[in-house]
Amino acid sequence: MEQNKNSDSSLSIKSVIKLVAFVLVVLGGGILATGLTPTIFPKQASAEARSVDQLFTVLLLLGGIVFFLIQGLLLVSVIAFRARPGDTSDGKASHGNMTLEIVWTIIPALTVAFIAIISFKVWSDNSAVKDNENIINGESIPIEVKGQQYAWSIAYLTDDVDVEGKPIIINTGNVLYTYVGQNVRLDMQAQDVIHSFWVPAMRVKQDLLPGNLNAGGRLTQLRFTPVTIEGESYPARYPIVCAELCGDGHSRMTGTVIVYESRTAFETEWYNPKVEELRVPPKDPVARGAGIITSFPCSGCHTLSSLGWTGVTGPSLEGIGARAGERGAAAGGETAEEYLVNSLWNSTEYLVPGYGPLMPKFGPEQSGAYQMSAENLYAIVAYLCTETGGGDSDCDVANNTLEVPAAIEREFGLIVDVNFGGSAVSGTSPEATPEVNVPSAESTAEATAEAESTDEPEATAEATTEAESSD
Ligand code: CUA
Repeated sequence: MEQNKNSDSSLSIKSVIKLVAFVLVVLGGGILATGLTPTIFPKQASAEARSVDQLFTVLLLLGGIVFFLIQGLLLVSVIAFRARPGDTSDGKASHGNMTLEIVWTIIPALTVAFIAIISFKVWSDNSAVKDNENIINGESIPIEVKGQQYAWSIAYLTDDVDVEGKPIIINTGNVLYTYVGQNVRLDMQAQDVIHSFWVPAMRVKQDLLPGNLNAGGRLTQLRFTPVTIEGESYPARYPIVCAELCGDGHSRMTGTVIVYESRTAFETEWYNPKVEELRVPPKDPVARGAGIITSFPCSGCHTLSSLGWTGVTGPSLEGIGARAGERGAAAGGETAEEYLVNSLWNSTEYLVPGYGPLMPKFGPEQSGAYQMSAENLYAIVAYLCTETGGGDSDCDVANNTLEVPAAIEREFGLIVDVNFGGSAVSGTSPEATPEVNVPSAESTAEATAEAESTDEPEATAEATTEAESSD
């Protein structure tokens, strides 16, 4: 009896020690997982990142505790209740325990309810409409994001108009420009299948849905506010990735967020110069083309390092000016200029081997983002002629690429105003090419119509809708 009592009491002290050790292992494991996991996260580059990470920490602590509790109990049971040598009997029969069942139902139910409430709070706070969204120069400027296999196309719908009266749209391809403190709102839509716009450093992610907006399609929105990161060098760059498996090029669907340290830096270093360049394009066709090409949605699909493009859906434009002659010859005796103008306005006519007929046609008759005047075509092709990657251009660049308007006239029967509505450009010789100096009745009428139509707010809204719903 005495001996029994002693052994009983020593067993119970041992049990208490074991229980305490078990609880410590469970809590310690949970805390360790909670403390170590977030160290592999990207920097917290937005206000939303902080609340998302706090939520994640709570979830990780709860999950870690449950993991070590379950695995610990399993391990203890396997050892403590193992079959002893020679024991072939059944284990002790158990016919349920109401108290235990109530406890293990109520505790998880309360835990799950708690998680649901704190998660909903973080989600609703982070997606809530904010005051002063997308403020640039005191105005709220819509920022559109389009997703297509396999590129992001980001566009700033500025409230400025160019000299022809057309609304200025800055297409930045897969680059999103913003600044610390800007309440960013992205209006997003997919062009083909579902994509998901994810900026890991901002801890924000949102699906883009396909479908015609006029027939039940839905725009989705994503909001975040960049914050300053200690020790970061600005403008800072953070990756954008697609987080929805959208096809075999899904992993290539990437981009960059560029965050300026202040609104002033954003406006003076990027936005205002960019708008000015598109508002009053230079008269020199090459310089004009280099600016104007960024008002068209090319960068999502093509690579051109001098403009910072990294698209891979379409063929690379790197060194195109030194390749266009050869490509034109292969296409059936076209000159470099003819090949390039056709590649834009007749985009599916000559396909680069390995690429399908994916590129939309540009031209005066196209709508929205794909509408391109003959003058813009001239400037863009003149610019592409000079993108030679250090080689010799196949175009007639010595003559200020005046062969381009001649090619446009031969291919499309349109006469280009090579002075872009102004006086002669230095470097061109109007006397030598009198016929291309006369604006055609067509192009004059077109320019007038454009100027008139943009006076009407409805027309602008319509053009925007068309741009959204096209393709
Ligand atoms: Cu788009 Cu994955």
